[in-house]
Amino acid sequence: MLIKKRTGIEIPSSEITPKSVYLSRRQFMRGAALSTAAVAAGGLLAACSGPDAEPGVNPATGSAAEESAVQTAMPGAVSHTTDELGDPLNTFEEITNYNNYYEFSTNKEAVASLAKDFPTAPWQVEVGGLVNKPKTYGLEELMAFEQEERIYRLRCVEGWSMVIPWVGFPLAKLLNEVEPTSAAKYVRFETIEDKANMPGVNSPFFPWPYVEGLRLDEAMNDLTILSTGLYGEALLPQNGAPIRLVVPWKYGFKSIKSIVKIDLVDTMPQSLWMKTAPTEYGFFATVNPNVDHPRWSQATERRIGEFGRRETLLFNGYGEQVAHLYDDPNYDTTQSVRGQ
Ligand code: MTE
Repeated sequence: MLIKKRTGIEIPSSEITPKSVYLSRRQFMRGAALSTAAVAAGGLLAACSGPDAEPGVNPATGSAAEESAVQTAMPGAVSHTTDELGDPLNTFEEITNYNNYYEFSTNKEAVASLAKDFPTAPWQVEVGGLVNKPKTYGLEELMAFEQEERIYRLRCVEGWSMVIPWVGFPLAKLLNEVEPTSAAKYVRFETIEDKANMPGVNSPFFPWPYVEGLRLDEAMNDLTILSTGLYGEALLPQNGAPIRLVVPWKYGFKSIKSIVKIDLVDTMPQSLWMKTAPTEYGFFATVNPNVDHPRWSQATERRIGEFGRRETLLFNGYGEQVAHLYDDPNYDTTQSVRGQ
């Protein structure tokens, strides 16, 4: 069952919706198992390539902000209708129809239909490297971790953002099971490279598979989760089913989707983005309004479903939980977007 846990980011109980209904693990697994079959072909161009362009318009629906502001697709499946800052959750439709997932397409609005039949079960995640107890987890074993609701802001490096009610569990719980050795300093994550079902991975433009990494202390922070669902439902393929990383104080590209491999390593992993555009994307990639992307400002962002732009928050508003990870703020801010 789902546990409503908010990691110290609290909302007054008056804002808790009385309709809270949580799906059982069995229902959840059935949702995951429903995702099967293949996808159609799609084009591939540049990636994370430009600032977000259409302020005020909801790209999922083409409609403007006030129509969709607080409404949620399945309000019974979430414990709160806002994040801890009081901002409304994005709708299920927005979250599942405006996606970055280059293995399918660089067109955010095409990903959902191209990925809709992507086979996400059976699934295995191989966890190894510098650990005492390497283990390959099946989906059932991943779902057996106590699933929690985490309402987080997602800030894409392109300059748009959403508030998403994720379901998942702390990555630390899984890492503690495999027992990293004292030599382990970083965690390296890898997405499935399914050429038959992911049209984008046939493009030579990117060094597939999609790889991301965290420092071990970042990976062990309680905010870092492996997500298996959102809005109380199993993840849909476009959001990284059946299991993806969510690191809310870093730009969205760190939150790698459809993970099949997790390795504890002693050197800093080279991510797909560091290899593809080393002058634009670095390892740490913490959200920082004071460090511009080389081609655009990071000072503001467009919340999907809103008019205009809002100020971007340092660490995406999670400084209280994570600032201590970075002794020298200058070190991290200068490395937050640019290459090493
Ligand atoms: N993971 C993989 N494997 N492939 C991708 O293209 N895109 C990243 C990240 N994870 C991406 C990925 C980017 S740039 C963002 S902003 C988020 O996924 C978007 O997540 P969402 O589509 O669930 O909102």
